[in-house]
Amino acid sequence: MKNKTIYKPCDLVIYGALGDLTRRKLLISLYRLENANLIEPDTRIIGVDRHAHDNAQFTEIAYKSLKEFLHDKLNDEVWQRFSARLSYLQIDLTQLDQYAKLHGALDTKTRVTVNYFAVAPFLFSNICQGLAHSRVLTEESRMVMEKPIGHDLQSSKVINDEVAKVFSEKQVFRIDHYLGKETVLNLLALRFANSIFTTNWNHNTIDHIQITVGEEIGIEGRWEYFDKTGQLRDMLQNHLLQILTFIAMEPPVNLEAKNIHAEKIKVLEALRPITRYNVDERTVRGQYTSGYLKGKAVPGYLEEEGANIESTTETFVAMRVDIDNWRWAGVPFYLRTGKRMMGKRTEIVIYFRQLPHNIFQDSFQSLPPNKLIIHLQPNEGVEVEMLNKIPGIDGHIKLQKTKLDLSFSETFEKNRIFGGYEKLILEALRGDPTLFLSREEIEQAWTWVDSIQDAWQQSGETPKSYPAGTWGPVASVALIARDGRAWEE
Ligand code: BG6
Repeated sequence: MKNKTIYKPCDLVIYGALGDLTRRKLLISLYRLENANLIEPDTRIIGVDRHAHDNAQFTEIAYKSLKEFLHDKLNDEVWQRFSARLSYLQIDLTQLDQYAKLHGALDTKTRVTVNYFAVAPFLFSNICQGLAHSRVLTEESRMVMEKPIGHDLQSSKVINDEVAKVFSEKQVFRIDHYLGKETVLNLLALRFANSIFTTNWNHNTIDHIQITVGEEIGIEGRWEYFDKTGQLRDMLQNHLLQILTFIAMEPPVNLEAKNIHAEKIKVLEALRPITRYNVDERTVRGQYTSGYLKGKAVPGYLEEEGANIESTTETFVAMRVDIDNWRWAGVPFYLRTGKRMMGKRTEIVIYFRQLPHNIFQDSFQSLPPNKLIIHLQPNEGVEVEMLNKIPGIDGHIKLQKTKLDLSFSETFEKNRIFGGYEKLILEALRGDPTLFLSREEIEQAWTWVDSIQDAWQQSGETPKSYPAGTWGPVASVALIARDGRAWEE
């Protein structure tokens, strides 16, 4: 990973400048980068969309978005600097000849053009063709895109093929915003810079691993999109598998993108397939019904606005995953993710093996295992759960569980990354592909997920229901209990 604070000035072109993603995430993240003095001084931000606006109107929209979605107070001086970078171009993205307008707006001699596709994937091919047609791309140009990159292997290949007609693989930056989160990045440091973990990170010492990504929110007005997608494709195919690859990969030779990508792909290749023969015991699908969240009544999935009451799309998925390689043989990874869970909680729990013999029977019949708990959100941090003697002079050795706590939100308050986008946008401007996904990774992940999706379809089972505000269907408790284990609560 290059550690450059100085990089070549860029023209960051955002296609879909008036859309939700730009207003809620991109502008907010760019402003925060500005606030942290991380945007190169000559870099410009050019918003592209089909509506007839001028620069002043776009600047006004950006200002309103910041007021609405930035949780901190807007700083006048930072805003002055930031707004001076903004401009707007009206282009109907489906009209090839309109891309010629980019000539007047871009400066490809002294700046690198970074094309951010913040639009629905059906427009990706139009933009690529438009850019090729108007001949504004150079070898230095980059493109940034994010999920959904297809809904299965086949459709993701179609998107990647279209993009590959215009951009070479090294020019393509595919975002998974979880890779910009502080704690995901910290997994590399934790694993490969600390000998206590490096030497114990395998089947000899680890019993099993749990990854939970629980969301409090429901469908948030995007029922139609979500219903075609489901939680497996929306969250597990990308975010949870990315976390899993960071936990499971072998040490890369160094931090260069190609070496990290190569190790992640090996993990994805080693995932034991889930097929119709084992899908029932390996996975649980759920769909939320109405319930209570923090004391407030919330509707079920089939009662959300725009819902089709016959939908069998899953809003929750739990599964046991096995990695068939030397390091992880016999160590199950339990993954679960769902909408309308009891709380927003993203965490990884590494359970170490229990000791073979217990000399502290007075305190515990069976010694609880050490746990390494990595909190991704809402409060980033790492905890190690250990056993310790309760201080006292009465002659008895009594043990208690204690936690060594490294909380990032307190320790690194000033330097923390917010939602992941800041880090990734900055890396795209710098041109460092380490935290982005390669085509091979995405295709490998789809291959594995497609098999699960097919198996579900063949089994014909409908999702199990769970009330909103819980941790999912009872069947997910049974999934892990069958192996004599329990979810971390
Ligand atoms: C997105 C999914 O990729 O991630 C959403 O499409 C989900 O459905 C979101 O809510 C969760 O992101 P975060 O950063 O809030 O955990």
